[in-house]
Amino acid sequence: MKIQKICCIGAGYVGGPTMSVIADKCPDLEVRVVDINKERIAAWNDKDLNKLPIFEPGLDQIISRTRGRNLFFSSEMEKSISEADMIFISVNTPTKTKGLGAGQASDLSWVEASARQVAKFANGHTIVIEKSTLPVRTAQAIKEILKTTNRENQKNEISKTFSVLSNPEFLAEGTAINDLEQPDRVLIGGEDPDSVSDLVNIYLNWVPREKIICTNLWSSELSKLAANAFLAQRISSINSISAFCEATGANIQEVAKAIGTDKRIGNKFLNPGPGFGGSCFKKDILNLVYLSEYFGLPEVANYWNQVVVLNTWQQDRIYKIVLQKLFGTVNGKRIAILGFSFKANTNDTRESPAIRISSDLLEEGAVISIYDPKVSFEKVKEDFEKLSFDNHGSWHMVNSIEDALKNADAVLILTAWEEFFGLDWNYFASLMRTPAWVFDTRSVVNREEIKNTGLNLWKLGEGS
Ligand code: NAD
Ligand code: UGA
Repeated sequence: MKIQKICCIGAGYVGGPTMSVIADKCPDLEVRVVDINKERIAAWNDKDLNKLPIFEPGLDQIISRTRGRNLFFSSEMEKSISEADMIFISVNTPTKTKGLGAGQASDLSWVEASARQVAKFANGHTIVIEKSTLPVRTAQAIKEILKTTNRENQKNEISKTFSVLSNPEFLAEGTAINDLEQPDRVLIGGEDPDSVSDLVNIYLNWVPREKIICTNLWSSELSKLAANAFLAQRISSINSISAFCEATGANIQEVAKAIGTDKRIGNKFLNPGPGFGGSCFKKDILNLVYLSEYFGLPEVANYWNQVVVLNTWQQDRIYKIVLQKLFGTVNGKRIAILGFSFKANTNDTRESPAIRISSDLLEEGAVISIYDPKVSFEKVKEDFEKLSFDNHGSWHMVNSIEDALKNADAVLILTAWEEFFGLDWNYFASLMRTPAWVFDTRSVVNREEIKNTGLNLWKLGEGS
């Protein structure tokens, strides 16, 4: 089958960048990205590339090359689905908040709704691809939905056929374009060799054949959950050792280097920090925990659950250290928060450690000034409103590091944005009250830079 038109349901952090790169690398394909969120589609179509709904380095250049040429963002679900030969489902799969499995299982409402739309509007033969991260065996549910609706279509003498593939996405935010253009691997799970080969042929436009791994459907679905669990586990491992370092006088940077030079361990993903954030690690591990229990493997469930437990503990630990260093109270004290996104180079704040740590400080009555180069006031407001906590303090957003640090008793660095490195601490110390503290959770401050400034420094995994 010659694939000419692709549709992607979901214009989010995955759908937008992934389809932009496919359109860029395959100029002969027409790529349509659809979303029920009309505001998001309008933002993707905004002439001002600074107003794209997500910030991702390099994305704006690709959009300016492809948008209107062979890449289109639209709300026209029926037309886009009915014309497509291949449909990617790239919708949100958050943790269920109520009902069976609440707090652990993935909420598949959006995936199911997408599958039903595909069943209704598709024409002829359509390859349906799971791009979202999904519980193992979801492809079976999608097949059932497509089959059932297909029976209704047959009654009305409409002929449609479907083939379902799994093609999970491994991009990380902040490096999404590079990850998509030069992936470590592309994973395709499926049973129908022709459909698998159609998808392989698309990736072959820019990905070497040896990097394309083909597996059965269930291995593909599980590999995505397992990969995220392994990555998150490394972060919890290094964070557990960071606490150990503080207790013993060892230095986490030295320890990370010493263990990371062992080729079997490797030096990536060994940066200690305020715990992993982002929309996926926690949700995917909790999903793995839920599935482990479902399949009668409680020991496996407990093992992975501990990765999440340690992550929350790390965030709580940091807030308690701030409190302790500021003489046990932050009531009325001004604390600058540098960085609110869950990592550098993204405007995404989902599950950002900054949310939990700031709200704990607000409960204690702190006055918080937040500076982040890409996160908006509205986003922070929304994040705090989603939490139920007793706010005894106050917070505001500022437009510069300088404004954040004016009259502050402490500054807490939570995201490793490039501009936080190499700051003139002598100058910033002169803006702060005394005694003042710098709490560095991302190892952006060099101890030498702080010397002779009068500031106290606490670094994660090194102490004060
Ligand atoms: P997102 O929330 O940014 O985007 C999902 C979009 O889907 C939203 O804009 C929503 O309006 C839209 N949508 C939901 N239901 C729809 C429907 N029925 N029809 C049309 N549009 C619909 O989510 P995301 O971060 O892009 O993640 C999507 C999936 O990819 C998730 O399963 C996630 O686990 C996985 N994933 C995410 C990342 C990442 O870095 N964010 C990386 C790899 C995998
Ligand atoms: C992660 C994975 O890296 C991607 O492969 C995956 O596709 C994606 O999740 C997903 O499924 O959503 P992402 O969450 O965007 O990507 O970003 P990461 O670079 O993995 O960082 C996640 C969190 O871990 C961030 O809060 C980051 O600061 C933290 N982290 C990362 C550390 O604390 N230390 C490290 O060494 C690395």
